[in-house]
Amino acid sequence: MNGHQTPSEADRLYEQLSRVDSATYSKNACIGIASLVDEIRTLKRQRNAVILAHNYQRPEIFSVADFVGDSLELAREATRVDADVIVFCGVHFMAETAKMLNPEKLVILPDLGAGCSLADTVTADDLVERKAELRKVYPDLAVVGYVNTTADVKAECDVCCTSANAPRIVEALPTNNILFVPDENLARYVQQHTSKNIIAWNGNCYVHHQMTPGHIEEVRAKLPHVKVLAHPECRTDVLERADAVLSTSGMVKYAKESSATEFLIVTECGLSDRLLIEVPEKQFYKSCMLCQYMKMTTIEGTRDALVHLRYEITLDEHIRQKAVRSIERMLELSR
Ligand code: 13P
Ligand code: SF4
Repeated sequence: MNGHQTPSEADRLYEQLSRVDSATYSKNACIGIASLVDEIRTLKRQRNAVILAHNYQRPEIFSVADFVGDSLELAREATRVDADVIVFCGVHFMAETAKMLNPEKLVILPDLGAGCSLADTVTADDLVERKAELRKVYPDLAVVGYVNTTADVKAECDVCCTSANAPRIVEALPTNNILFVPDENLARYVQQHTSKNIIAWNGNCYVHHQMTPGHIEEVRAKLPHVKVLAHPECRTDVLERADAVLSTSGMVKYAKESSATEFLIVTECGLSDRLLIEVPEKQFYKSCMLCQYMKMTTIEGTRDALVHLRYEITLDEHIRQKAVRSIERMLELSR
């Protein structure tokens, strides 16, 4: 470990991170984090690496990231990288997407356990079977794959979408019948915004599916002026009670631009952490739901990933070529 971090880095970290949780991010803890931040910055220069991080990551990861965003922004950013190495602080399907777009670069994920239980609800074989079955009834059927899917599944989709552009992508397709995989809640949300026929897969995200209308009502009863921002992976009865339904970065933008000062953030907790750091003048109430996969990446693990250049994301070239088409089509349609 590099021992000569500047005290001002530790102070800056303490000032920001203690707003998230003063017990976890004590002064002493921030001195240790500052040392790791310093070490990671040096390693990034030595390795000619960039760090792309999702909004749900631990807040100390934001300090070393070159870019923090939602799935759509991260896919767009991955098309602009000119470094040799991409360290992906997020989950496996996100790192796969970065690799699809950068086959010649080394893409690494600090913890290979960082999967996504929603992505695991659909396999390529099951999708191929369901497509064949549905095409007998709907010959024009197109498959829209949420970006939270494996590369094998993306290879069987006509186009991808994210929480930021799902209704727009569906509307842009020339077909009327759409099989939407794998998130059933997002599929229902899309159905409310289109006259097309949406056939939902039966997957859901264990983090968002547990959120209940009762939680929103309880907070609203105490704070009548609170603005409720919800992620479209939540159930319909939750979304009906929200003031706005947005992707994670959509929530950041809304909270920064709104004249409101109190917000209930109905998504994974990491997003509220980003808001507490970046918008200190406003109040954010969170639902305290953690995604175990997103939290597997630690700052120590990120340092180790850069030291050992691990864990490499690899893709079968045939699958990559098929899968990247659905990502590229999404990027074209959501320009
Ligand atoms: P966003 O694309 O809105 O960041 O969502 C990603 C995700 O995994 C939500 O659970
Ligand atoms: Fe997957 Fe849900 Fe975690 Fe997002 S929050 S990465 S959808 S398990």
